Amino acid sequence: MKPVRLIVLGAGARGMDAYAPYALYAPDQLQIAAVAEPRELRRAAFAARYGLPEQAVFTDWRDALTAGIGADAVLVATQDNEHVDPACLAMEQGYDVLLEKPIAKTEAELKRIYDTSVRTGRRAAVCHVLRYTRFFNMLKSIIDSGEIGEVVNISHSENIGYWHMAHSFVRGNWRREDETSPMILAKSCHDADILLYLVGKDCKRVASFGSLKHFTAKNAPEGSAERCLDCRVSDTCPYSAMRLYMIPFLTSWPVSVITDDLSTEGRLKALREGPYGRCVYHCDNDVVDHQSTVLEFEGGVTATMTVSAFTDYRHGRTIHIMGSHGEIRAKMSDETIEITNFRDGSVRTSEFPPPGGMGDGHGGGDIGLIASFVQMERGAQGAVKSSIRDAIQSHLICFAAEESRRDHTVVEIHNVN
Ligand SMILES: NC(=O)c1ccc[n+]([C@@H]2O[C@H](COP(=O)([O-])OP(=O)(O)OC[C@H]3O[C@@H](n4cnc5c(N)ncnc54)[C@H](O)[C@@H]3O)[C@@H](O)[C@H]2O)c1
Repeated sequence: MKPVRLIVLGAGARGMDAYAPYALYAPDQLQIAAVAEPRELRRAAFAARYGLPEQAVFTDWRDALTAGIGADAVLVATQDNEHVDPACLAMEQGYDVLLEKPIAKTEAELKRIYDTSVRTGRRAAVCHVLRYTRFFNMLKSIIDSGEIGEVVNISHSENIGYWHMAHSFVRGNWRREDETSPMILAKSCHDADILLYLVGKDCKRVASFGSLKHFTAKNAPEGSAERCLDCRVSDTCPYSAMRLYMIPFLTSWPVSVITDDLSTEGRLKALREGPYGRCVYHCDNDVVDHQSTVLEFEGGVTATMTVSAFTDYRHGRTIHIMGSHGEIRAKMSDETIEITNFRDGSVRTSEFPPPGGMGDGHGGGDIGLIASFVQMERGAQGAVKSSIRDAIQSHLICFAAEESRRDHTVVEIHNVN
């Protein structure tokens, strides 16, 4: 069987490093057919890495989709505001789609993607990578085994990490709702999705609270300045750009995002001139830095979902699943899972196979997703666990949470499909 041919739209952090490397790891299964990327250095690096001829290299996604490239599928890895149009045009052009989250920012856009997929008969999978991680699949199989009885209640936390918050949601790409999306959608559509996956029931009602509490001008310490390089208190500031971006041996994310020139001079120039050198108390950010959401599922199952900046990144996602006959306490970052069985009082921990293969991005979720997508393209039924249909409800939960947070109401969820 021939390898699946994939067009990549956006050779940024995700387009370049999360899924495309599967073509190097398993060239008999996946081949990169073309790329679209406006940034010259990234475009050239991507084309060189995947040996693309000139006629398969574009600066804009529209040109790549209408050039008549012989391909099976398209990866949409452009920024949040440019997901709906490329996904729909790709399907109209006869390609299946692997679509980064969030897939859309409004209910009408969700419906447009879903309707286009149904009308064109093209398949679309969403990059809800948590569904492909060893960790969440282990939790799902424990729940499905009945070991803790019926799931009654879940407490789930996305511990963003204080420096990750500063990088992505105060200084970086996801700091403003009008440029991308509210925090709950940008960060926690994954969390809403994984709760749906674990509970296995529809969500009926949502209430949510949260705000931008800390990263505002009024919290700027005395002696701070507009830029960290001019700050008199940066040595004691946990959010200092120097602490985050000037570690000499660190050249991968998040440093790779601030500049293509990773020399000391290149980094200092980025901190002097670019967005990532700004004081976290003097940015143009408006997304929340903490938000807690309560969800009620069919049959009375409830869950809380908290996303917070004021955490240690190393903890990642933590979850406590409470069942009628047992409970699970688990931490994604070190893949620890502890199960207490109320029937006999026993406590056990779950074992994982060691990670192998191409890499371990998102706890194996990145490779799990692309491998499953390729299998789907090669005809395996049920290989993909994150269809557009699956993703719609998680997005509706996030829209409802945002409405609830702003309007101080409890919001009912009605599916669009
Ligand atoms: N699934 C996940 O776990 C996960 C994790 C992080 C980010 N994301 C999502 O993935 C998407 C990409 O994120 P990223 O971190 O790679 O961002 P990025 O900014 O690094 O990459 C986006 C790329 O799109 C390119 N681009 C802009 N206009 C374009 C055009 N007209 N045609 C083609 N390319 C164009 C940009 O130059 C950039 O290189 C975002 O929507 C983000 O929310 C998903």
